[in-house]
Amino acid sequence: MTEEPRHADGAVEPKASSDSAVVRMIILLFLGLGLGGFVAFRLLSTPAEPAPPEVARDPLLLRGRGIFLARCAACHGNNGKGDGQLASQLIGPPVGNLTAAKWKYGDDPDTVLKIIREGTQGSRMQGWGTVLDFADLNAVAAYAYYLGKRPVPDPLRKSIPN
Ligand code: HEC
Repeated sequence: MTEEPRHADGAVEPKASSDSAVVRMIILLFLGLGLGGFVAFRLLSTPAEPAPPEVARDPLLLRGRGIFLARCAACHGNNGKGDGQLASQLIGPPVGNLTAAKWKYGDDPDTVLKIIREGTQGSRMQGWGTVLDFADLNAVAAYAYYLGKRPVPDPLRKSIPN
């Protein structure tokens, strides 16, 4: 059995060095976890480019873009091509490509608004009607038309004050 080192007065020497080594290891561990998390986050999230000028000068599209990047891009992709980070993991019908010449449900504005408001049956396209207000629904729908290289339908434009 090894004796604890003792001072002349009999007090046990504090094992400061090994305790602080443990503390250092814990701190390093947390730094490592934090750094790893940050790197993973950066790898997973594709930062969006700045808004192109035609969007930047159009309040409806600019508003729609903000909503799209925050709410829709995870599945639809930043540019609407259906290549968001979650797209490949979804159960049900694929996200589809908003830049394609043909949209699965067509591009009648009432239908598109209804899909965004109520979602589609049996798919991970949820309805946003309880999350987004009327103006936001119109703005994000308008942005979908922009991504699809389609003119923004008039009803979407008229519905919110610019
Ligand atoms: C969790 C993933 C997910 C999110 C988030 C999401 N969508 Fe979808 N979206 C889908 C899927 C999957 C489909 C295909 C649905 C189908 O085939 O029935 C779809 C279809 C659509 C369609 C119909 C496209 C077509 O080809 O007819 C539109 C429009 C649309 N989404 C807009 C949006 C908008 C706008 C948002 C954000 C407010 C959004 N989506 C958020 C998964 C998502």
